[in-house]
Parts: sequence; structure tokens; C-alpha cells
Amino acid sequence: MIAFKDRVVVVTGASRGIGQAIAHEFADKEANVVIASRNIVLLEEVLKDLPCTGNSKHLAVEMDISREESIERGFERILNMYPSIDILVNNAGIAFFKLLTEIRGEDWDRMMRTNLKGAFLCSQKVIPGMVLKGSGIIVNISSVSAIKAFPYNTAYSAAKAGLLAFGNSLREEVRKSGVNVVNVIPGATDTPIWDDLNGEFDRTKMVDRSDIARSIADICALSGKTTVEEVIIRPAAGDF
Ligand SMILES: NC(=O)c1ccc[n+]([C@@H]2O[C@H](COP(=O)([O-])OP(=O)(O)OC[C@H]3O[C@@H](n4cnc5c(N)ncnc54)[C@H](OP(=O)(O)O)[C@@H]3O)[C@@H](O)[C@H]2O)c1
Repeated sequence: MIAFKDRVVVVTGASRGIGQAIAHEFADKEANVVIASRNIVLLEEVLKDLPCTGNSKHLAVEMDISREESIERGFERILNMYPSIDILVNNAGIAFFKLLTEIRGEDWDRMMRTNLKGAFLCSQKVIPGMVLKGSGIIVNISSVSAIKAFPYNTAYSAAKAGLLAFGNSLREEVRKSGVNVVNVIPGATDTPIWDDLNGEFDRTKMVDRSDIARSIADICALSGKTTVEEVIIRPAAGDF
């Protein structure tokens, strides 16, 4: 499989969970993979395990996508090493389940800064290069919470619905330049994000993160003539 040979894929939030699986999937398919998150120690561990096939070369970058100056620094490093980015996966995200009355203003802001503004700022860094080149893909990891109502999810749902709308608008803005924006809408997926969430969850019924990663790579491998714009990936058994 050489679909992504010499391509550069940036994955935010790749120190664990879905992002780590996406990084592995693209590395398996011969891409150069840049993994980014706040925890450089974890990232270095993930980096060690990424398969290097052909001439591929991977990079780990400490970056807090909730802070603009950190994104500035991170992308300066990334674009220095790889001036042309082919795929950006806006995956990094946080979650909490809280009653509306328990959400402090600063919790709301952190949710929006991380799950929505971070994707906007990271996209801004790569879109000019993609438009110039006439190709590229932005993948936004939204959530079923954006399209289906769950209680205790007001902040998370609002951010993830905002991300969908952001992606839809950006897609039209860059469509004629040969750049695509794919909104991925996962349902409950078994990752460490569930470790600290209140409630009882049957994680055996959740989606495998590797299935999400494989679907994204398959979508990105489509010829430029065909695009997938939105995909919902949910547990076959569950209603979440
Ligand atoms: N798991 C699910 O059921 C599910 C369902 C739908 C959508 N999603 C979405 O899928 C994405 C990945 O979730 P996951 O389940 O894999 O969660 P996870 O296991 O908790 O991983 C989240 C990743 O995001 C990174 N991250 C968090 N805040 C960050 C920040 N400010 N800057 C940079 N990186 C940050 C974390 O790395 P550091 O801590 O090292 O920064 C980590 O690598 C999220 O956007 C989530 O909302 C998940």
C-alpha cells in the first residue's frame, strides 16, 4: 500500500486514543506523519512505535491547540521540516459531562478554545499552502453529540456542532481550489476519553478506534475526482 508515499499528514491530539490510531494508520501507509499534542513525553513514546516504511520520516511536536502562541510555535517547526502539508486531521479534543448550571464560564471557554477555535487556527496554518498547491484535505473529528441530543453535553455538543458548520463553510470556500474538508462524526469510541467521564458505559460495545482510522485513510485515498464530505461512524449495537 503506497497511497500516501511522500505525503505529509499532521494529526493533532495524537498522544493517545483516536489520534494515535490515525497516526499509525497513515504511517502504515507510508506517509510522513506529524503528531502533535501537549504531552511531549507521551508523543515521543507514540513516535517510537510509528512504523517507518520506505523513506518516511515522522515528527513529534509539543503543541497546545487551545493557545494561539503554541500553535504558532508548533506550525513554525512543522512547516520548517515539511513546507507542504497534504492532510491535517483536527482531532485533538476534550470532553466533560456536566449539568448546565455546573459549567463555569472558564470551562465553556476551554471547551470552545480546544474543540473549535483550535481547529480554526490549525486550518489557517495549512490552507494557504494547500490552495497554492491545488490539493489537500482537512479532516475534522466532530461527534455524534453534534447531531443527536444527549443531556449534560451542552458545551461539548455546541463546540462539535460548531466544528461541523466550520467544516461545511470552509469546504465551499476552498472547493474550487481542489482542497476538500471532511467532517467525521464518530459515535462512542473506546478511548481514554471515557476514563474520567461520569457514568457507566459498556465500552465493549463502542467503536474500535482503528476502524475510525481506517475509514479516514480510505476516504483520503479516494481520487481527487470523488470526495466524501461527511461520514458518521457509530457502534453497530448502541444508540450513542
Ligand atoms: N472517544 C469517543 O467516544 C469520541 C466520540 C466522538 C468524537 N470524539 C472526538 O475524537 C477526538 C479524539 O478523542 P479521543 O477519544 O481519542 O480522546 P482522548 O483519548 O482523550 O485523546 C484526546 C487527545 O487530544 C489531545 N488534546 C487534548 N487537549 C489538547 C490541547 N489543548 N492541545 C493539544 N492536544 C490536546 C490529548 O493529548 P494531550 O493530553 O497530550 O494534549 C489526546 O492526544 C476528540 O476530538 C473527541 O471529541 C471522541
